[in-house]
Amino acid sequence: MHEALTDLGTDVSELTYLRLGGDLGVVSAEEDLEERLGVLAELREQGLIRRIGLSGASPGDLARAQRVTPIAAVQNRFNLLDRSGVRVLADCEAQDILFVPYFPLAAGRLTGYAELTAPAERLGATPAQIALAWLLRRSPAVVAIPGTTNPGHLRANVAAGPLAAGLTDAEVTRLTALTDESTAALHVRRPVQHRRHLRHRRTLTPHLGRTAGTAACPDMPPPVSPPGPGGGAAGQAGRQATGRREHVRGLMAGVLRG
Ligand SMILES: NC(=O)c1ccc[n+]([C@@H]2O[C@H](COP(=O)([O-])OP(=O)(O)OC[C@H]3O[C@@H](n4cnc5c(N)ncnc54)[C@H](OP(=O)(O)O)[C@@H]3O)[C@@H](O)[C@H]2O)c1
Repeated sequence: MHEALTDLGTDVSELTYLRLGGDLGVVSAEEDLEERLGVLAELREQGLIRRIGLSGASPGDLARAQRVTPIAAVQNRFNLLDRSGVRVLADCEAQDILFVPYFPLAAGRLTGYAELTAPAERLGATPAQIALAWLLRRSPAVVAIPGTTNPGHLRANVAAGPLAAGLTDAEVTRLTALTDESTAALHVRRPVQHRRHLRHRRTLTPHLGRTAGTAACPDMPPPVSPPGPGGGAAGQAGRQATGRREHVRGLMAGVLRG
């Protein structure tokens, strides 16, 4: 946790997610979820975390977790082409919990849909911006976190927020109907204890929608720490990571200012 906070350049995480895998159909083993949440609750008591979220939660996971501690946000896969998180989205909406759809742009697969291009042309926007605007209209619980390595896309993604109000109800309905939500479901698989070292790609991810804090994922691989002046390959990797972080912070600050 201390390494994660150092990596984020802060003393306290506004929101830390427990990664579960319930969105991949994995059922958390008996007591496992409760034990892991208990560790996060202790970190919150120590002042290192302000809010606890779940990443990859089934509706059952969310209900179990809420019996242990208040859950501020759930981060699940959800986009125009994949509504597997639809039931947990409904639960979040009902309980005033933030729903943070990951892969909000279907990881770049949203091309060639007339339902996207028609409103994009009408509003002078791009299909990706319409996909984000639709997410914000799909539910008041949604906070979108599109990922990009492209500063132009970052600006466009930030500008997608105000576009949401410009979509007509008919456009929202046509976009929602791209996927049948009534049959979208999670497929249950075997119980697991804990998935470690999930792959992590550094991207620029503005939060669109309601206010959400920074997020640190407790089971991410630890950041590479520079061992000291001139410290070999690990030191170089650490300095590169720090340089990238500073670059991203500067870029985000510029985009959000202007
Ligand atoms: N909780 C979890 O288990 C979990 C899992 C996966 C991801 N996530 C998080 O979800 C967030 C988003 O995930 P993601 O980046 O993999 O998927 P994504 O946001 O759905 O898609 C990113 C892709 O869309 C492209 N893109 C972004 N903005 C665009 C724009 N305005 N126009 C056209 N293309 C655009 C990007 O390419 P360019 O780089 O060229 O812009 C990239 O290929 C990240 O913060 C990630 O950390 C969480």
